Formats: sequence, C-alpha cells, structure tokens
Amino acid sequence: MRCGVLFDEDTRLWAAPGTEGTERWLRSVLGAALGLPLPAGPEDARDSVRLQLDDSLEPEAYRLSVIANWGVEIRGGDPAGVFWGAQTLRQLLGPEAFRRAPVRPGMRYGIPHQIIEDAPRFPWRGLMLDVSRHFMPKEGVLRYLDLMAAHKLNVFHFHLTDDQGWRIEIRRHPRLTEVGSWRARTKFGHRASPLWEEKPHGGYYTQDDIREIVAYAAERHITVVPEIDVPGHSQAAIAAYPELGNTDVIDTASLTVWDSWGISPNVLAPTDNTLRFYEGVFEEVLELFPSEFIHVGGDECLKDQWRASPAARARIEELGLADEDELQSWFIGHFAKWLSARGRRLIGWDEILEGGIAEGAAVSSWRGYGGGIAAARAGHDVVMCPEQHVYLDHRQADGEDEPVPIGYVRTLEDVYRFEPVPPGLDESGARRILGAQANVWTEVMEDHARVDYQAFPRLAAFAEVAWSALPAPPERDFAGFERRMTTHYRRLDALGVAYRPPAGPLPWQRRPGVPGRPIDGPPPNR
Ligand code: ACM
Repeated sequence: MRCGVLFDEDTRLWAAPGTEGTERWLRSVLGAALGLPLPAGPEDARDSVRLQLDDSLEPEAYRLSVIANWGVEIRGGDPAGVFWGAQTLRQLLGPEAFRRAPVRPGMRYGIPHQIIEDAPRFPWRGLMLDVSRHFMPKEGVLRYLDLMAAHKLNVFHFHLTDDQGWRIEIRRHPRLTEVGSWRARTKFGHRASPLWEEKPHGGYYTQDDIREIVAYAAERHITVVPEIDVPGHSQAAIAAYPELGNTDVIDTASLTVWDSWGISPNVLAPTDNTLRFYEGVFEEVLELFPSEFIHVGGDECLKDQWRASPAARARIEELGLADEDELQSWFIGHFAKWLSARGRRLIGWDEILEGGIAEGAAVSSWRGYGGGIAAARAGHDVVMCPEQHVYLDHRQADGEDEPVPIGYVRTLEDVYRFEPVPPGLDESGARRILGAQANVWTEVMEDHARVDYQAFPRLAAFAEVAWSALPAPPERDFAGFERRMTTHYRRLDALGVAYRPPAGPLPWQRRPGVPGRPIDGPPPNR
C-alpha cells in the first residue's frame, strides 16, 4: 500500500476523555482479531489511532480520517459516534478484523487514505429478540449484541415474557421463573402441526445476568428496552400465579406454561391484585434497565374471557367504560401513568391505540403502517416495524426447501425497500418516527444458528435502511446493495454467522422429509 496507514505492532491508541469505552473495545476486539497489542501512546505518535469528541458533529455522527504518514482519527459527536466510527474502521481493515484470534500473526494491515463523514438517519435502530418462545442462553444474547454493534444498531428490544415462558428473575415473585420459565414440551413447526417435541424447554436470566447484558450493551452504545407483556400473552405468568387469571371463567390453577403457538385466550384479569402484582414486577425491571422506554406489549389480547367474566363486566361498569377495548386501554393507561411518575415512558404494540392511547405513550407499529401513522398524527412517538417488511421470522424465499413454516415471504429485497417514514405523513408527523426496528420471533428458531439463518442477510439490509438516508424505495439501488454484500458476506463468515446462503437453500435442506419443511396449514404462524 503506497498511500495510507498501516496497522501493526507499532500502532498505538490515544483516547481523549469520553472515548475510553471505544479504546477498550478497539484493544480487546480488534487487537484480539489482528493479534496486535494496540497499547496506549502519545497523541502525536505516527500511524496511531486517535479518538476524540467533537461538538460540531451531531449525536452519533462521526468523521473518520485516514491520513498517510499521520494515522487514523475518529471524531464523534458523542461517545456513541466515536464507537460507530470504530465499527467502520473495523470494516476497512477487512474480514480478518471480525475474527476472535489472528489467522495471520505478524501480518500488517493497511487502510487506504480517505475521509468518511457519516451519521445515522434515525436515533432508534432497533432489533427485537423473542427469548420466550425459545430461550437463548446468555452467551447467545451477548453475541447478538455484538452483531448489532457491528451493524450500528442501537436499541435491543428484549421480549422477555410470553405465553410460552417467563425469562427474567423477579425476586418478589419467584414462581414466575420457578414455574413460568419451563414448559413440558413444544409444538413442532407450524401451530397447525399435530406434532410436539416431547422434551422440556426453558431457562431464564438471573438479575445478575440481566445486569451483565445491560452493561455489555451499554459498552456498545446499545440501549436495552425490556418487554413485559400485559394483559395478553401472559399464560406463563398465570400458570405460576393462577390468581392473575380470570378465575371466574376458567380453572386457572390447571393452566401450564403453553406448549403451542398462536394467541392464547388466557389473559390477565383486570383486578387490583393484578395491577399491584405487575407494579412489583416493573419496580424490579426499572432497577435493572435504565432505558427511558419500557415496553408493556399490549398486542393480541383476546377479550373472550373478559366478555365472559362477571368480574371484568363489573369492572367495566364501575370505571364507566364502554367495552373491553376501553378496559384494555384503562389497563395500559394505568402503567403509562405509573411509569411516567417514575420518569420513564411506556411503549406498546399498535393495539394500544384501540380504546384510546395513553398520554405520552409510544407505539411499535407492527400490523403495517396504519397504527404508526395514526399515532404519529396524534402526536405520539412511533417505531416502525411493519411485519410486511421487517418480521425476520417470515420466510426469505418461496420454495418448499425453506426450513421455516411461516407462510409469508419477505425477501432480502423486501427488507431493503422498507421505508420507515410512510408517504402521507406531513413534516410534524414524520418527526414522530423515532426510527425502525426488525423483529425476530422465535417460534420456529430453537437456537442461535436458526436465528442467524432467519436474521441474515436480511438484517444487513435493515441496518442500511435504518442508518442511511437512502433514496425512496422505487429508486433504491438493490443491485448495488447486493454487490456490496459480497464483501459483507466475508465479514459474516469471519464472525461465524450462519446466514442463509444467497444462492438458495443448502443441500441438506433439499432432502425430502427433513423436519422443518413447511406443513400445510393456514399461514401465518401466529
Ligand atoms: C406481534 O407481532 N404480535 C407484536
């Protein structure tokens, strides 16, 4: 390399105050990958890497300068900006910089002379992981955070509770994990399938595990937004504490953690006891998660038990509400006020608009754009995550070899053509779009290799949409994205990501009769 900067044994790091986190990350991650010590050195050392804050830059923005005979400088509008600049530096160093140990010890890595100015389009670049349907042990979650950081994603939406498992230790309610974190067996494939896998499945994170995950994320400038789902998707909690359910409608004491997929009819009873119980849950959640937003779910709450319940009917009358939709609004509204009194903000799936949305609440718009548009027009903040584009549990291709039995097809191109700000929103509505999020529901992903297959390469397309100000979807250069992916696949290889091969299914998927072939039945899976 004639003109540029060499990374080798002599490369030193100089970090101005406020950038020490990125210095640590560079030394431990990049140093380990390339086999270089990257010791601290003076600011004027030749070919060193200098990190500093620059308040002329926007939050999360960075300028990366690679100057021959001088070195590398990353200036960030804030510590996060410096960190995102370091991610770009790793990309420039080539795929080997994505490994955990050197494959060519003693190698000198050159970076060509250049200046990159870069900034994110959105402050919320989210990725959700459902650890209820299949538990992902802590190591897998930490790896997921590393993959997020490599793609400059900064909000980890942690779906911790659902009908099929409760995954977070709550000290004052120990049965939530003692009972609620394990199920006896698991529906195999599509919810219409007649098969179960007859082995117990479960696990949970202790409070120290959660602290570790939150701190690991923070070091990578990722905020963890926990989701505790109410009042639907709560069968695991009711199995642990039957008094939380509609005891005047069904025998909740006989409920178990759900072993099937779909939407459970077993929802929380709208009683004072339930509110006090969940206030206790949220008190511990607030101690663990510093995030401004706390996600309370609110989606897919079937109202049949409330309709059949004399106690729920009495509650509707006592509160002067019109119907069960308003009862759900009252329930969510209670927690919106409760959280705001503690300096936090409630976010929920777009069903929280039905029956009236609580003041100050934000919306995750998943059933298309409609909910998000309505919420933004009403002055609420919105995270766009429409299932038509960014549900990564949906199949990536048509073809019976695809190992995922969810009927919808969302191709790499569908994800790349996702536009988080829908046309039709005026400027003040558009300002309400905090950003975008991809969601990984795990009914059909039993381990992190399957999560990788579903998430990649589509997550790379999503990350580009969430970060970059791309042209409107019809003008987006998908062919250009695909060309750039040829380089990115080499990085994913080095990271050990089990992505879906771009050319189609692997040979083992073509064998007839392998488990996981799509099972006839009504899509979608949920
Ligand atoms: C959802 O997919 N039920 C939010």
